[in-house]
Amino acid sequence: MDLSPWLVVLFTALVQASAILADTDSQDYTGLVAIADNWNPNPSNWIGNDPCGDNWTGIICTGNRVTSIRLSSFGLSGFLSGDIQSLSELVHLDLSYNKELGGSLPASIGSLSNLENLILVGCSFSGELPNELGQLTNIIFLSLNSNKFSGSIPASLGRLSNLYWFDLADNQLTGGLPIFDGTNPGLDNLTNTKHFHFGMNQLSGTIPSQIFSSDMKLIHVLLDNNNFSGSIPSTLGLLSPLEVLRFDNNPLLSGPVPSNINNLTKLAELHLENGKLTGPLPDLTGMTALSFVDMSNNSFNASDVPSWFTTLPSLTSLFLENLNIAGQLPQALFSLPAIQTLRLRGNRFNGTLTIGSDFSAPLQLIDLQDNDISSFTISGSQYNKTLILVGNPICVPGSSEKYCTPPGKSNPAAAPYYTPMNCSVLPPTCLSDQLLSPTCICAVPYRGTLFFRSPSFSDLTSPSNFVPLEQDMKVKFTRLNLPVDTISIHDPSFAQSNNLQLSLELFPSGKVHFSEQDISNIGFVLSNQTYKPPSLFGPYYFIAQRYPFANGLQVPSESKSTNRLPLIIGVSVGGAVLVTVLLALVIVFAKRKRSPKKNEERSQSFVSWDMKSTSASTIPQLRGARTFTFDELRKITNNFSEANDIGNGGYGKVYRGTLPSGQLVAVKRSQQGSLQGSLEFRTEIELLSRVHHKNVVSLVGFCLDQDEQILVYEYVPNGTLKESLTGKSGVRLDWRRRLRVVLGAAKGISYLHELAEPPIVHRDIKSSNVLLDERLNAKVSDFGLSKPLGEDGRGQVTTQVKGTMGYLDPEYYMTQQLTDKSDVYSFGVLMLEVLTAKKPLERGRYIVREVKAAVDRTKDLYGLHELLDPVLGASPLALAGLEQYVDLALRCVEEAGADRPSMSEAAAEIERVIKMAGGPGAPGHESASESMSYASRTPRHPYGGDSPFDYSGGGMPSSRVEPK
Ligand SMILES: *[C@@H]1O[C@H](CO)[C@@H](O)[C@H](O)[C@H]1NC(C)=O
Ligand SMILES: *[C@@H]1O[C@H](CO)[C@@H](O)[C@H](O)[C@H]1NC(C)=O
Repeated sequence: MDLSPWLVVLFTALVQASAILADTDSQDYTGLVAIADNWNPNPSNWIGNDPCGDNWTGIICTGNRVTSIRLSSFGLSGFLSGDIQSLSELVHLDLSYNKELGGSLPASIGSLSNLENLILVGCSFSGELPNELGQLTNIIFLSLNSNKFSGSIPASLGRLSNLYWFDLADNQLTGGLPIFDGTNPGLDNLTNTKHFHFGMNQLSGTIPSQIFSSDMKLIHVLLDNNNFSGSIPSTLGLLSPLEVLRFDNNPLLSGPVPSNINNLTKLAELHLENGKLTGPLPDLTGMTALSFVDMSNNSFNASDVPSWFTTLPSLTSLFLENLNIAGQLPQALFSLPAIQTLRLRGNRFNGTLTIGSDFSAPLQLIDLQDNDISSFTISGSQYNKTLILVGNPICVPGSSEKYCTPPGKSNPAAAPYYTPMNCSVLPPTCLSDQLLSPTCICAVPYRGTLFFRSPSFSDLTSPSNFVPLEQDMKVKFTRLNLPVDTISIHDPSFAQSNNLQLSLELFPSGKVHFSEQDISNIGFVLSNQTYKPPSLFGPYYFIAQRYPFANGLQVPSESKSTNRLPLIIGVSVGGAVLVTVLLALVIVFAKRKRSPKKNEERSQSFVSWDMKSTSASTIPQLRGARTFTFDELRKITNNFSEANDIGNGGYGKVYRGTLPSGQLVAVKRSQQGSLQGSLEFRTEIELLSRVHHKNVVSLVGFCLDQDEQILVYEYVPNGTLKESLTGKSGVRLDWRRRLRVVLGAAKGISYLHELAEPPIVHRDIKSSNVLLDERLNAKVSDFGLSKPLGEDGRGQVTTQVKGTMGYLDPEYYMTQQLTDKSDVYSFGVLMLEVLTAKKPLERGRYIVREVKAAVDRTKDLYGLHELLDPVLGASPLALAGLEQYVDLALRCVEEAGADRPSMSEAAAEIERVIKMAGGPGAPGHESASESMSYASRTPRHPYGGDSPFDYSGGGMPSSRVEPK
């Protein structure tokens, strides 16, 4: 007999009985459990049968009914089950930023008649938008952007008469914009909607004239990056509240721009670029709110310089490229009070370019490439920002004027904005999953990318454009009681879609991790636009990365079924009273037993062996390295005496010892009892025993006796490169020696990448991990974080980001994809450190940014005199090859790994530089003073003293112990 129908009945009865005990409505509870069954993982406190009473994370109730689900950035995978319809009182559903959550939207969502916010930003939902969405007549916020929806926009959405925010951007939607057809409503019926965000799809057809009318309240109309054709309807001029208009990047959009466009006196951002628009250049007279105008690359009639050029008081950015505009540019254009960027290349501007002394202070860039300008007058104070006149008659061949050099060479773009770091002391090295906040605290930030669809500015370097955003966020997040301490924004850039994007990090206040509840709250504030940025940023959306919670989240199936199974069994005893009693017991039991399953990060080591055991069978056969007994090592270090102590750090201490054979060794003894330490320890043994190269420190042996973790290395007498650069070790490195050390390091790393089997990524290349032997040969050391690569032949692994701040490859850090190019980045940073003797990251100054900003390739030594280590003496003669060295270093720190050279290419290039610098720079002919400095040095032995794990427990940094 099939018992399952009975079980269902009994189960339902039971759940209803359980409602006597739990606060939560039973239908909501079963619905929620059914939905959560298709999500993985679940928040860690989703246990028991009372979401409302037990305050399940991300669930908000009114009375006993679930009214909100907010689970953005939880790393959920799976799909949204049709059981969502059970939650009939649901008002807010926010599942944004769960990249792995997808499938199609269930049609049953249409029955949620109370739903006001449906926010599914940045997931992977696909398939067609269900017609049933049109039944959500109470909906106010519909944000389905950045998914993979396809098919056309259902006309039924025209029924959403309360809709305020309508965002379908960044999907794969096709077809046209549906309008009222005599029976069925269309988008023109959305008379309360203020935002039409439909950009970045494949929508096509003409833009229907009915869609714009004086009944509409639209303030943002974003139809950019689609395939619309035909011309812009003249009804556009009826949208008097309009503030942002984007029709750009519709390659087939044609015909004239309606002349009533200048009715739009509130319009701040106008984007018409990259289409086939014809007719006269639009007349923007009277549109005094305009700040950003881009009409580049269209087919307008040839025209003279229009009179409105000098009449728009708020204009920051005027982009009119390749438009056949002729005549002399008025001087007043350069003194518009807000003007930042003028991109006017490819026109026929002629005559004399005159920039008066009253040019506007925010002005950063005038690009007039390929025009007809024949002379240039600057009066009064010099205009010293970027000016590009390449391709004008004024630039005769061979002209050495800076403005005649193609951009990029003489006119390097200034570095984009980066929230400054305000460290009063030396910044600590953060644990691997943590970042340094702008106030120099290590914590795990909530991270993501902000996309501004229509900023009113174009200068990405000026703090005056970005500091207001930081301040505004801080104030508003605090007001919302969100535990955000500091905000870091960096790397603003304009994407191909013309959106401004920038990286955002929110650091937790007074703790290392945000809680699950914090993330639910913060994610919602950003996904449903509760947070509004200062107006100069315009409309935005945010895509968060999955937040790495302190304990991971629970794996759902087990914990929930252990709660439900006893319920079902219990019922067979029968009798409602008994059931209730049993149920109470079960619930009490379940509540007691709840212990969230933690997803412990397993070691991904490629050789696994039990390191606690010393039996011969579990110790791997290690080439070259031998095992020592604890007694042997005690003997050779004179009982680990102070006198033999040559360095220490959080991991423990390093002692000098002499083997019976007379060989000097360095004995690194780890502090007992650290699991992290033991993983590192094992990694290091496994890797080092396989690699043998003169530029890689060699492992003599190890000891696993008596719970000890001791590594024995060859003795490298001259300390670390870092100590030499900071002058601590007394080893003085001139230019040629530095090149030689850098070459040695490059060869060591290149060996790891290309000759070791399997290849190894070091992951922690830095100056304190490069040791110098008695002949100043570089030896790469500290393999505690290293990873074997490409066992699957792909040359990359996905891994938790580890390394040292300042040296960390930003691409690896963003994507968590580790490749050998991450070491190349760190090596590039090390090259810059060798050049400047500056710490890579100090008091908000990042060496890579600083050098990039300072390089001027028209000057000798690339104009870097002020950044160079003064010890080098900044004479071009003494520093032969420096330019090539800088070029190489900057290639190593390219943003994209693919643009960086391989380590062997870098090594070959350094060899060429050494030839330019005059010979091998080998020791052996040092001057007397240099030999003196050898004699006066004190030996030191950090062996990885800068390990990211140099912390005492609790995840908070303790003050680092520098090698003595
Ligand atoms: C939709 O708009 C049309 C024309 O503007 C109007 O006649 C019709 O009644 C509207 N329908 C609804 C359902 O509002
Ligand atoms: C500049 O171009 C305008 C419009 O084509 C023309 O009338 C004028 O003569 C030109 N001026 C010079 C100096 O070439």
